[in-house]
This record gives sequence, C-alpha cells and structure tokens, in this order.
Amino acid sequence: MALEQQRGRFISLEGIDGAGKSTHLTFIRDWLAQHGVDAVFTREPGGTPLGEKIRELLLAVDTEASLDAETLLVFASRQQLLHSVIEPALAAGQWLVSDRFTDSTFAFQGGGRGVPFERIAELEQWVQHGLQPDLTLLFDLPLEVAAERMSKTRQLDRFEQEKADFHVRVREAYLRRAAGQPRFAVLDASRSIAEIQVDIAACLQKLLEAA
Ligand code: TMP
Repeated sequence: MALEQQRGRFISLEGIDGAGKSTHLTFIRDWLAQHGVDAVFTREPGGTPLGEKIRELLLAVDTEASLDAETLLVFASRQQLLHSVIEPALAAGQWLVSDRFTDSTFAFQGGGRGVPFERIAELEQWVQHGLQPDLTLLFDLPLEVAAERMSKTRQLDRFEQEKADFHVRVREAYLRRAAGQPRFAVLDASRSIAEIQVDIAACLQKLLEAA
C-alpha cells in the first residue's frame, strides 16, 4: 500500500509597507533550502498570470476602485492562487511561502479602509474553506521607521501613498488579529536584520520539527 503523501506547510509573511519582508524572504528561501525543504514561493496579490494582472490594477496610482471592488479583486487573485498554486503545492507535500495572504486584507481593506471585518471573514470562508497558514510571520515596526525605509528605495504604489493614519490603522489591525492566534509570530522588525533572522530561524525550526 502506498504511503499517503504528507501535506506541506503553509507560511505567510505580513506587515505594513516598508517592514522589510523582501530581505527576510531571501533568508527564508536559503534557510529552507539548507534544511532540505522543497518550497514554493509566491506573493499576493499576484502569483498567477491572472493575479499579476489584478496586482497591476490594484497598485496603479491612477486606479479608482470602490472599497468592495478592491476587496473582491484581492479575493479573486487569492482564489486563483489557491486553485493553481497553493493547494496543489501543499497536496504534493511542498512547503508554500506567500508574501502576504488574507491577514493583509483584514489589515489594509479592513483596518485601513474600514471594510467590515465580518464581510472579509465571509469572503475568507468562501474562498479558503477554512484553510489558514500554519505560521504567519508578522514583521511589526513603528510607522516612522517603515516610512523612512520606503522613501529611500523606490516609487510609492497606491497603498504606500496613503496617509500616515491609514498605515497606523493597518498596523493596529494586524496586531489585534495576531493577539491570541497561535499561528502568528510577531517579530519586532525595528531591530537589526541579524537579530530578526535569529527569530525567523527559530520559528522555521519549530515548524520543521512539528512536520
Ligand atoms: P507588497 O508591497 O507586499 O508587494 O504588497 C502590495 C500591496 O498590496 C501592499 O501595499 C498591501 C496591499 N494588499 C492589500 O491591500 N490587500 C491584500 O489583501 C493584499 C494581499 C495586499
């Protein structure tokens, strides 16, 4: 009798814009490779041909979208990603690392824009059928530090251009969501990269040992 394939692990990375996720993604990629973990990397919005088109629309500074249209677009991208990338990878025993997932919708559309959390939760249930990441690394830092990092690097997109109070609400929504949910690891991202990566490695090790 063939052994049943063990389901892969699902990791998401979250944080306000400018929290330094990209730097840490490279570290995670290297760490998993060194530990012999076969992992797929993706991002939201995006990660599929349809999702990348939706991403372009959502981030373009000249896009006008109602709150509900914006929320439905991120979930359309997510459904496609789950269908063609996330579910198949996990079923094949691969680990899946996503640069953002549904916590971003609760934080940005919910906290930032004021879309009711219950409405987002309904869409979450419809699209994910209860699937949640096994580990969510929340890179948390004060807005001022994030803003300082962002302005140095590149042109700002439609979300990054939002005023400071928007990003403050996004951060608060993340922290509220993380409280009491064991899948979250809230990492103080205002520390040095080396210090943060010690924590990331510990989280990955724990997940690996639990697999
Ligand atoms: P990135 O800067 O991490 O690539 O993310 C793109 C932007 O999309 C970021 O500003 C957050 C935003 N976003 C939402 O507003 N809602 C969502 O559900 C997701 C996944 C991202």
